[in-house]
Amino acid sequence: MRQHIVAGNWKMHTTPAEGFALAKDVIAQSAQAPNNVELIICPPFTHLSDVAKAASGTRIRLGAQNCAMWADGAYTGEVSASMLASIGVDYVILGHSERREHFAECSAVLLKKIQQALNHNIRPILCCGERLEERESGQHLEIVDGQIDSIIRELSADQMQQLVLAYEPVWAIGTGRTATAQQAQEMHAHIRAVLARRFGTMQAEQISILYGGSCKPSNATELFGQPDVDGGLIGGASLKAADFIAIAQALAG
Ligand code: PGA
Repeated sequence: MRQHIVAGNWKMHTTPAEGFALAKDVIAQSAQAPNNVELIICPPFTHLSDVAKAASGTRIRLGAQNCAMWADGAYTGEVSASMLASIGVDYVILGHSERREHFAECSAVLLKKIQQALNHNIRPILCCGERLEERESGQHLEIVDGQIDSIIRELSADQMQQLVLAYEPVWAIGTGRTATAQQAQEMHAHIRAVLARRFGTMQAEQISILYGGSCKPSNATELFGQPDVDGGLIGGASLKAADFIAIAQALAG
């Protein structure tokens, strides 16, 4: 049975005080989410310490939105995986399309970040997804295949077991335009086939693949109803505790 996961990517939103209040709201409402759903919130770095204290002893897991590709040293502005682990971070989002686009993160960099996270028992949530023109030209499967394959071929089966994947079509992120349930299922099944090619079907069946891109309470049930969609990576809708929990409720049953 694959783990069901709903993760909130807060991006560069909220002040620390607002973020702390939002985390408290999510914690307060978390009992309304099905027990078998892993609830993760990923606030900005400045909020993590306080949110970690509030989340300690609750079911809420903490994620960061990035980590350094180096262990430590003279890298001004960077935050290492060991620093994150020391304050109780369990997950880290890596390879989000916004980081690929604005910070030129490529597979070689992502692989180093994944290794750093894994070295400190932080589970990477590795994102992939095609741009609109790539989908329109029918290259979407190939593009995503390339994004994933270049990384997973360097990982051992044990390491792979710690990863969560997130399919986020770039054209659906923050646009209000969601992939249809069929488009999501087609891609998730494709990703699982890529995983099976490298690690075998049994292991591929155990890996959670999340959908992200304008996921909200009104469309979550249909998306999560697909056999290969194991939950969501939620941007905008994770900034309201009630919406975030309502999305998790779509994984009931
Ligand atoms: P969105 O963002 O839900 O606001 O589209 C998803 C994401 O970027 O992770």
